[in-house]
Amino acid sequence: MPMLAERMGRAKPSAIMLVADKAKKLKAAGRDIISFSIGVPNFLPGAHVYAAAHDALEHDSGQYGSNRGADALLDAFLKHLRQGGFDGYERKHLASGIGAKQVLFNVMYALLNEGDEILIPTPYWTSYVDIADILGAKITLLPCPAAQDYKLTPAQLDAAIKPATKVLLFNNPSNPTGMVYTPDEVKALADVLVKHPHLWVLSDDIYNRMIFDGLPYAHVVKARPELRDRVVLIDSISKSYGMPGWRVGMIAAPESVAQAMVTLNSNHITNLPEVVTAAATAAFDGPQDVTTSKCADFAHRRDEVVAALAAIPGVACPRPQGAFYAFPDISVAFGKKHGANAINNDVDFCNALLDAKGVACVPGSAFGEPRAIRISYTCKPAELTDGLKRLQQFFAELN
Ligand SMILES: Cc1ncc(COP(=O)(O)O)c(C=O)c1O
Repeated sequence: MPMLAERMGRAKPSAIMLVADKAKKLKAAGRDIISFSIGVPNFLPGAHVYAAAHDALEHDSGQYGSNRGADALLDAFLKHLRQGGFDGYERKHLASGIGAKQVLFNVMYALLNEGDEILIPTPYWTSYVDIADILGAKITLLPCPAAQDYKLTPAQLDAAIKPATKVLLFNNPSNPTGMVYTPDEVKALADVLVKHPHLWVLSDDIYNRMIFDGLPYAHVVKARPELRDRVVLIDSISKSYGMPGWRVGMIAAPESVAQAMVTLNSNHITNLPEVVTAAATAAFDGPQDVTTSKCADFAHRRDEVVAALAAIPGVACPRPQGAFYAFPDISVAFGKKHGANAINNDVDFCNALLDAKGVACVPGSAFGEPRAIRISYTCKPAELTDGLKRLQQFFAELN
């Protein structure tokens, strides 16, 4: 039989999806399952988004569209950027794609030769490593444990950047930790980046409208505008607008990178569909009240999760201030048993928790931090309360 390409040997299915699938199967078999596993916002966009999609359907041209993205979408994203505190971008700095994931794939494809080094602060969103692996990049993980609030320090960054390092991946707010860098922390990292002009920065900001406690949306480009020539800002409608299935991701980048995206799109996806474009345009351009109220709602849920975790002896959870995840260190459970189930690592923990209590979480090893688990708290409020109780009971029953 003919062989698949070698790179497919490095491609793996998403570990998050594996847990979500197991939970789904148990639910289908009649088990009472609460899923804290999948990172979807679980709300729908405002009525104006659907109205725009309907209208686009009525006036559909049925034709191919722009490889960069329709002008209306680009202009709406420019407005979104200005509202986020970024001036000076123009259409030529932008490009669109099928969600932030596909955009990230294309940007990494455009920037990384095989063997080029990419720095990835850890815990990381799983696909960064998976994509870099497929592309044959040299991955250097920068461990940022709970003891340093899961955040990259300037000294750590400075020490990691070598003459041959090509790309830093920076994600703020973070999936899986929910941590948000303060403006001072971002400024200190930006000061380091300025000293290393050979480095690209991929800034995955897709949770930028989900920041709590009055913290601002800090960014290396705002802190040191001279970095704009080598920073690729990545955004998406998936999380901020409750539209993960609509599949729209955007970049704001140096012109050469945006043009590379356009070239890849022209050989790849060609364009976003008209109806999807209209919906995304309305999301970026229209009223932001759904996003604002959901952000407030997530902040309350964060409080509930943090309080429940704080009541479990030995569990440490740096306080998340954005996105909709908590990432507690549960290593206190290692070496113990739940019933007959020995818990020696995060995967054992998640399996035992799912079997005994019907609560699905993602093992931290999927994100490069095997002492933790990820809790995504966008389920129904009653399920969240019930699931957290079950988690507390599970810990109380360990021996
Ligand atoms: C940090 C981060 N980046 C990118 C993505 C991909 O988002 P999209 O749905 O726009 O492809 C996700 C999705 O979970 C994410 O958490």
